[in-house]
Amino acid sequence: MLPNFDKPIANVLLDVQITPQEFEFVRTVVEKNAGIVLSSNKMQLVQGRLVRRARELGLSSIGEYCDIIRNGGPEELVGLINAITTNVTSFFRENHHFDALMSVMLPEAMGRNQRTRRLRIWSAGCSSGEEPYSIAISSAEVLGNARGWDFKILATDIDSEILHIAEQGIYNSERLTGISEERRRRWFIGNDNNDEGDLQVIPELKSLITFRPLNLMNNWPMRGPFDVIFCRNVMIYFDQPTRDRLLMRYAGLLADGGYLCLGHSESIHSQHSHFKLVGRTIYRKVGG
Ligand SMILES: C[S@@+](CC[C@H](N)C(=O)[O-])C[C@H]1O[C@@H](n2cnc3c(N)ncnc32)[C@H](O)[C@@H]1O
Repeated sequence: MLPNFDKPIANVLLDVQITPQEFEFVRTVVEKNAGIVLSSNKMQLVQGRLVRRARELGLSSIGEYCDIIRNGGPEELVGLINAITTNVTSFFRENHHFDALMSVMLPEAMGRNQRTRRLRIWSAGCSSGEEPYSIAISSAEVLGNARGWDFKILATDIDSEILHIAEQGIYNSERLTGISEERRRRWFIGNDNNDEGDLQVIPELKSLITFRPLNLMNNWPMRGPFDVIFCRNVMIYFDQPTRDRLLMRYAGLLADGGYLCLGHSESIHSQHSHFKLVGRTIYRKVGG
């Protein structure tokens, strides 16, 4: 059968190959706006992500998509960054951080903040929410009987779509494998409006968390001090000068004696004047 040439082709992506020039363009835009460094071995990955995004927009080539970014306003820049970010996460990922939160970080902060009775934790690069909810569960279990503490978790991410998922707090039970049966029963409920197998975080837990879009490269509206900052598996996407700048900014927002948790493949140079390694990828802010 002959193809129907009258049929519009707007929804068919014809040119799925990214050219070196297009890759270079996208790489520059992403690094400038999100700090994310895309090395040449990411070309296939970028191509796949752009093809998907271009398809969503009904475009017929990556070139057309690049033109929109080049000529358009900031609107599709958000779409591009959302498409490029990697959001892999899970409940109680790198569980030693949550053990330390419960046994050391929170008890110390409660001792230090007796007068203000204020506790603040920041999950920077929170992705779909598993990290801040794991923080909330651990903290609620520690604070359970301690009345009168002003406790809040700030959860931020540059990716507006993933943040929306985080805010909903609805997860398929398959994603809850890192959570004990006891915790599941205590902190999740069946979700009436959604598919079978979905569970929802209980409102009491949600109320501890404020979700906000935030690009770590931009100005930060919050003043701190934070008792703990989780920035795990985020700085791997940045270059060294960007990481160093970020660490200085985290130091500025952490209370003396507060903690910074990094991802498993991230570290701070031992010469760094503000942070002392005190556990596996756990750093304590030293005064001065
Ligand atoms: C791999 S996930 C890590 C999620 C979680 N912290 C964990 O360790 O499980 C990295 C997250 O960092 C976010 N991210 C990347 N660049 C960012 C930036 N410039 N500002 C804020 N968030 C960023 C991504 O959107 C993504 O959700």
